[in-house]
Amino acid sequence: MSNQAFIETQFPIARLSAESYKERKAVSGQTLTGLGKWWGRKPLVLVRASILAMLMPASGNPKKDREVFLKLLTMDPDGLWRRRKGTIPDRELLARASAFEDAWKNAGRDEKDELREEIWDSLDDNLRADMEALRRFPLSRQEFDALSYEEKLKLCVRPEHLDGPDADAWVDINSHLGTSATTIAELTEQLGIRHFGHRPRIGDSFCGGGSIPFESARMGCEAFGSDLNPVAGLLTWANLNLLGAGKAVQEDVRQAQKAAFALADKQITEWRIEHNDSGERAESFLYCVEVKPPGCSYYIPLAPSWLVDEYFRTVVHWRHVPGSEHLAPEVVVLSKTELEQFKKHKGATVIDSRIIDPFDASRSWSVEALRGPNGLRRWTNDDVVPRSEDVFQERLYCIRWIDSEKRRRYAAPEAGDLEREARVRALLGERFSEWQRAGILPSRVIPENGDKTEEPIRTRGWTHWHHLFTARQLLTHGLLASLSYQGQSRHVRVAAMLNMGRLADWDSRLCCWLSSPTQIAGGKNTFLNQALNPLFNYSTRSLPMLASAQITLSKRIGPGLTGAAAITDARDLEYDCDIWITDPPYADAVNYHELGDFFLAWYDKQLRKYFPQWSPDARTELAVRGNGDDFRRSMVDVYKNITRHMPDNGMQLVMFTHQDPAVWADLGMILWAAGLRVTSAWTVATETPAGGIKKGNYVQGTVLLVLRKRLSPQDGFLDEIYPLVEDEVRRQIDSMRALDDGGEPNFGDTDYQLAAYAAALRVLTQYQTLDGQDVGHELFRVRAASGGRGRRATGTEKSRFEQVIERGIQIACDYLVPRGLETVWQGLTADDRLYLRALDVESRGEHRQGVYQELARGFGVREVKPLLHADKANSTRVRTPSEFGRKDLEGDGFGGTKLRQLLFAVHNTVAEEKPEAGMRFLKDELRDYWSDRHKLIAILEWFASLGQVEAMSHWIADSHASRLLAGRLRSDHG
Ligand SMILES: C[S@@+](CC[C@H](N)C(=O)[O-])C[C@H]1O[C@@H](n2cnc3c(N)ncnc32)[C@H](O)[C@@H]1O
Repeated sequence: MSNQAFIETQFPIARLSAESYKERKAVSGQTLTGLGKWWGRKPLVLVRASILAMLMPASGNPKKDREVFLKLLTMDPDGLWRRRKGTIPDRELLARASAFEDAWKNAGRDEKDELREEIWDSLDDNLRADMEALRRFPLSRQEFDALSYEEKLKLCVRPEHLDGPDADAWVDINSHLGTSATTIAELTEQLGIRHFGHRPRIGDSFCGGGSIPFESARMGCEAFGSDLNPVAGLLTWANLNLLGAGKAVQEDVRQAQKAAFALADKQITEWRIEHNDSGERAESFLYCVEVKPPGCSYYIPLAPSWLVDEYFRTVVHWRHVPGSEHLAPEVVVLSKTELEQFKKHKGATVIDSRIIDPFDASRSWSVEALRGPNGLRRWTNDDVVPRSEDVFQERLYCIRWIDSEKRRRYAAPEAGDLEREARVRALLGERFSEWQRAGILPSRVIPENGDKTEEPIRTRGWTHWHHLFTARQLLTHGLLASLSYQGQSRHVRVAAMLNMGRLADWDSRLCCWLSSPTQIAGGKNTFLNQALNPLFNYSTRSLPMLASAQITLSKRIGPGLTGAAAITDARDLEYDCDIWITDPPYADAVNYHELGDFFLAWYDKQLRKYFPQWSPDARTELAVRGNGDDFRRSMVDVYKNITRHMPDNGMQLVMFTHQDPAVWADLGMILWAAGLRVTSAWTVATETPAGGIKKGNYVQGTVLLVLRKRLSPQDGFLDEIYPLVEDEVRRQIDSMRALDDGGEPNFGDTDYQLAAYAAALRVLTQYQTLDGQDVGHELFRVRAASGGRGRRATGTEKSRFEQVIERGIQIACDYLVPRGLETVWQGLTADDRLYLRALDVESRGEHRQGVYQELARGFGVREVKPLLHADKANSTRVRTPSEFGRKDLEGDGFGGTKLRQLLFAVHNTVAEEKPEAGMRFLKDELRDYWSDRHKLIAILEWFASLGQVEAMSHWIADSHASRLLAGRLRSDHG
């Protein structure tokens, strides 16, 4: 048995991409999201696979290794069959879950899929067991086996919904691994003891929403998660200690939550702030900003759309009120035809940051100008609504009511409603200071000069976090918080803190109101994006509508998860782990420290009470971010530190979601400088829209770099290293191809490129110095020379280290010959190869611009743009011969190559509808026509085959012409 881990030899990335996508798509059905929002959470299935693949040794039999590995994840044929979910008729499900009736009625088709899972989870175990008898699966095993992996997944539950492999699978697994496990926890323990002498300790120094520690603990490992941000720390703590504490604790939390909600409901009913005199209760209150621009005699209510609810065909019209400078809203239900008409303009009173007069569209004002040269008045702590002198006012313009028969209607506010609004403000006023003092309401100031926090301050004058909430939201959330924090146990109180975070996300002035033709309109969450953008119109929920926004605990987890959560700068960690899995904030745009404060403001004082050792502060200055030199230094320090806290036979896995493949080399350098050696790299498409990695239309991939300590550092010399890199790249590509042969393809073009980086890094990172230069020194020396900013773009700025890495990619590019062009490849120029490879990549459905740019880099060609027909970010494709026409038909680059002449000949054949024109051109222009004739034919035949590819319908004419021309050339005997 080798000393390599499974992940250092192979990883089933196509299946994992599909599984990660399935998990992502579950949205609220994901295990951890119910506890609170964090950005960039990693899919649990990916974490599970990574841990198993690091613990599982590679044998000399890769096929068997793969088989066993898939069994462990229930991603093998039998495991998938066990995961088939079948269906229980909706009416049976709903009959046992009346609490979901409303949500069901309001849900669209996709949402119903999630809801089914949620309802199922909400049922108690006995009921679920009884209901299993009602489950029906429509396919036989044979029919199921014949489906593609993605099709199967649609009919399956996720691996985490099963208790791991079944008894038969364990026999096979144990016999291959020499273990005697019956559960995943037993297996991790046995493998851990074998490698490290104890249950494996798995740590994450950038734990964020806590996926990595949670999954490690769930797999029976000793988990450790730490993050700089206390919100992340709290989420991670809660994953382990609320979700992981088992049913009794969860039930406690649920009961406490229910009791607080019932008390809040009673109080709100007594206050009569959500009920009207007709026996209806409000569901949603819709507010908008209004302004009185210079020269206008009335306030203009602002919204990009006054379509309130397309499902109910309800819109708002505005009319003048004699003697008032405020317009009055009129809620109108339109006919279908009127609605279609209305949808064309939506009555918008703000378009592209300009305010439009609703009665005279020719009059408009810039929003920016209205803020004035000195900006807006800054709100003070006591402000909860705008003051009368403020530029931006706020008004209630519509309420959705529901009666006891569950009939809904929208209405403009009446006098009674405005009185209720005043009562809300008065009630809040009575409690405000006390609640702030007790940490029930936020009192923190929004940091100025943040990338994201600057926006609410500048565009609304909001200076405190509570300004991002309406008076009604502050009163309702405050009431719930004050009742929830009365719970006795720490668990209940922590759950209450997280609950306040959830409510803040789902009910703030930043929650937009979204209408749809297929379901009842509703308020969305604050963090639909990763920003803090104030809106012109927004919604506020009544208490019953907050029920579904509360935290949810999944019943399936625990008990007995062991692990620790901490708040530490990753550079200062003092904790030993056998394996570190990290997902650093690498070159990403998420300002965790700023956005996290939105939540922290709701429970900072509670946090101080229950986690006295934690600093309730985002410590912005310590956050690792950006991609400049400071960032690199911090990252080298972080990775040096965690490497120090790892045994010599320990491993690391660094995950990062890349937008730009060029950052891979950069990260590799950082890890190298930290004393680590890359042993393998994989890309998993974690955000695939459909069909897995193969279709190439995924949004983003997550790169996994596997690393070990560099134990016996060597001194390397570039001239010796180049050939080693070449061999390693070829070896890597050959082994990937071998895995692809005969089965489902595992790898896409970017995977091969990444593998080339990894192969180069694998060779390079064994050395401590190259030509006498220390790698750490080199990393920063070159940066300093280039002004220390970001990635270098030009050749002159490249370090020798990067040159080696680039050489690796060039080798990979040359080595990856499109099938059918093997015989002609040698004689082609770099430009020709780039064109043909780009076309090959396009024919497999790849349209991301970055991939084409990266290919050009690989072939050492400066510009790919002249070869492209469309170069938009996600719809890039190569020009066809007809699209080239006469363009750039000469010159030093592609214009002067034989391939370019051949494309022109194809174009002529298309234009003249016969091959003679093309052939004549070739014979006149190509000096070596006769010796090149067979190569030209091979390329033409390859073009001819493109027209049959589904994604290449724009090639049909050129492909047909290529076939004719190939035939003509073949029969040309002089
Ligand atoms: C990409 S996220 C991690 C997401 C996580 N893997 C998950 O699944 O939710 C990166 C994390 O690094 C944290 N971070 C930034 N600077 C840090 C530092 N100096 N020390 C520790 N954590 C830091 C951020 O707060 C953020 O949560």
